[in-house]
Parts: sequence; C-alpha cells; structure tokens
Amino acid sequence: MRVIGIETSCDETGVAIYDEEKGLLSHVLYSQAKLHSQYGGVVPELASRDHIKKIIPSIKQALLEAQLTKKDINAIAYTAGPGLAGALLVGATIGHSIAYAWNIPALPIHHMEGHLLSPMLEDIRPSFPFIALLASGGHTMIVAVKSVGRYKILGESLDDAAGEAFDKTAKLLGLDYPGGPLLFHLAKKGNPGRFKFPRPMTNQPGLDMSFSGLKTFAANTIRSHRNDSQTRADIAYAFQEAICDTLLIKCERALQQTGMKSIAIAGGVSANKQLRKSFDKLTKKIGAKVYYPRTEFCTDNGAMIAYAGMQKLKNNETSNNLSIQTIPRWPIDQIKLIQENSIN
Ligand code: KG4
Ligand code: ZN
Repeated sequence: MRVIGIETSCDETGVAIYDEEKGLLSHVLYSQAKLHSQYGGVVPELASRDHIKKIIPSIKQALLEAQLTKKDINAIAYTAGPGLAGALLVGATIGHSIAYAWNIPALPIHHMEGHLLSPMLEDIRPSFPFIALLASGGHTMIVAVKSVGRYKILGESLDDAAGEAFDKTAKLLGLDYPGGPLLFHLAKKGNPGRFKFPRPMTNQPGLDMSFSGLKTFAANTIRSHRNDSQTRADIAYAFQEAICDTLLIKCERALQQTGMKSIAIAGGVSANKQLRKSFDKLTKKIGAKVYYPRTEFCTDNGAMIAYAGMQKLKNNETSNNLSIQTIPRWPIDQIKLIQENSIN
C-alpha cells in the first residue's frame, strides 16, 4: 500500500509518498520563508495563495520522483489541523478532490501527530511506549505515547510555544523570520555566563511550561545594555540555554514520573543542535534513549503526514465521508474529534 501525504498548515507546502514496505519513496518541500520574511512573520492570506500555486506541481513531482502513477496510490492523507484556516483548506480541498477522483480514501491527519510520529521515518526509531517532546512554532507539549493514536498530554506551554519564543526573541535581536535557526547561529558567538536567564516554572511541580517571560526578559536585557553585536550574541546564548534547560528539566521529570526510558524529540525546535546536545547528555546520564527525526523532518513536511496516514490506513481508520473538514484549533488528545464531528 502507498499513501500520499499533503502538508499545508502554515508556511511550507509538503508532499510525500510513503510505501508500507519500502518506506519513504519521495518527498517534495517548498518553503515560503522568503515570502514572509519581508513582513517579519507569516501572512496567512499569502500563505494560502502560495499553497494553491505549489500544491498540484508538488503532487506531480512526488509521483514522478517515486516513478508512480495515480493507480499505485491507495489513500491520500492531508493535515486537517491545527493550523491557519485558509492554508489548511488548500490541502483539505485538494486531498478530498483527488481522493474522490481516484476513488481512494482521504485521511485527515492531526499536524502534531505528524510531528510526533516523524522520528518513525528514521532507521533508528523509538518503540512504544515513549515520551514525546513536541516543540514547534505553534505548540510545545510533552506527551505520553502508548501506541499510534493513544496520546496523553502530560504538560504543555501555557503561553508562547518554544519556537514562538525563539522567533520573537530573534526579532528583538534584529534577526529575520523564521528566527529560531538564525538565533542558534548568533548564539554560537555568545559568551557563556555573561547573562543568566530564568528557567520558568521549573521550581513548581508539574510539566506545564511558560516561555513568554523569557522574551520579556530578553527585551529588558537588550534595553539595559549596549546594543553591540557581542551583547546580542551573549543574549542569544543565554536565551537559548534557558529554553533548552527548561525543556530538559521538564522532560527528565516526565521520564521519572512515568518510568519510561525513551524520549522522542520532534517539531521545528528539535532541529536545534544545542537542544540535541543537552538531551544526548541527559539521556546518557540517566540511562535513557533519545530519538530525533533528521533535520529536514523537524520542521513541517509531507513525509510525516504520509507516514501518519499509512498508520490510519493500516488500522482501517478510513471513511467515505465527502465532507471537507479542517480544525484550526484541535488538541492532540482529542484526535478522534474529526470523525465524531463529520457531517455525512
Ligand atoms: O514545527 P514547525 O516547522 O512549525 C509548526 O508546526 O509550528 O516549527 C517551526 C518553529 C519556528 O518557530 C522556528 O523558528 C523553529 O521551529 N525552529 C528552530 C530551529 N529550526 C526551526 N528553533 C530553534 N533552533 C532551530 N535550529
Ligand atoms: Zn509543524
């Protein structure tokens, strides 16, 4: 069996084809980063328009690269939420239309479930059960993963997500959008120890997180010091260290509380090399194992959606429902919602 995966929830158009036996056959990715960078963030209407332009050529290219035709495809998976309403609608409409024309099922996928399962695209992958840290631009959460589709949120960000805090602090430091990777590069020139940022909510029990205070702390630090390039690098270093440490403390707690020995880190922020270094060190120290997707599958992509779709197809979680549905706000532990809400 083979599944096409379509991702259009934010500013990346991703299409991929996953084969049940051979794994990933092709994947195509168009980033809109350049388009949005001149505005300092994602402009939803521009995102939708660009998805409309790129989606059909991307599907054609993915089929071509995999040397397949429509007859070889058994289902089409698309991101149904959470995300930007207009952007989601592009993938949902195309997904459903192609599924109808090709007489195959359309599979609505939760974007964060895609991220959660993305480490499964690798040869070295976690086995169930495991803890997942999902750190992206829209959401940050720690999830207990029992099996595919059985997720329990143990903790989440109460305000800004980790990626959002990276982007906002990067902006304060005069960096472009998306700021996360640029802040990482700036931090490489930073002096350790010049500034010390707080580790929010780590002195309280529980696994919820709060990152918006770090952005304010960065703003105040910038205001009260000379705005030279070394100071900006030192602030970037201290900010990144605080985010990494906070995520690390919360995840170590999650492993302790659940007694689990494996953790998978996914979502855009999991591309951060400093974060990976910290988790490598921690898991070695406590005798646990850590898993990551390859860098290109940390941020949004079609491969994770195709993989998640394959799991639904194998579990017979398909329906012939023709209603095109998206859920811009959709908690991951309410993953069944889309089936329950469907209108026949
Ligand atoms: O998962 P993702 O592609 O999109 C959402 O689902 O939100 O995550 C994007 C986020 C952005 O905030 C971006 O700045 C951040 O991930 N990001 C990084 C790095 N690469 C991407 N943050 C820190 N370090 C990086 N290397
Ligand atoms: Zn994402």
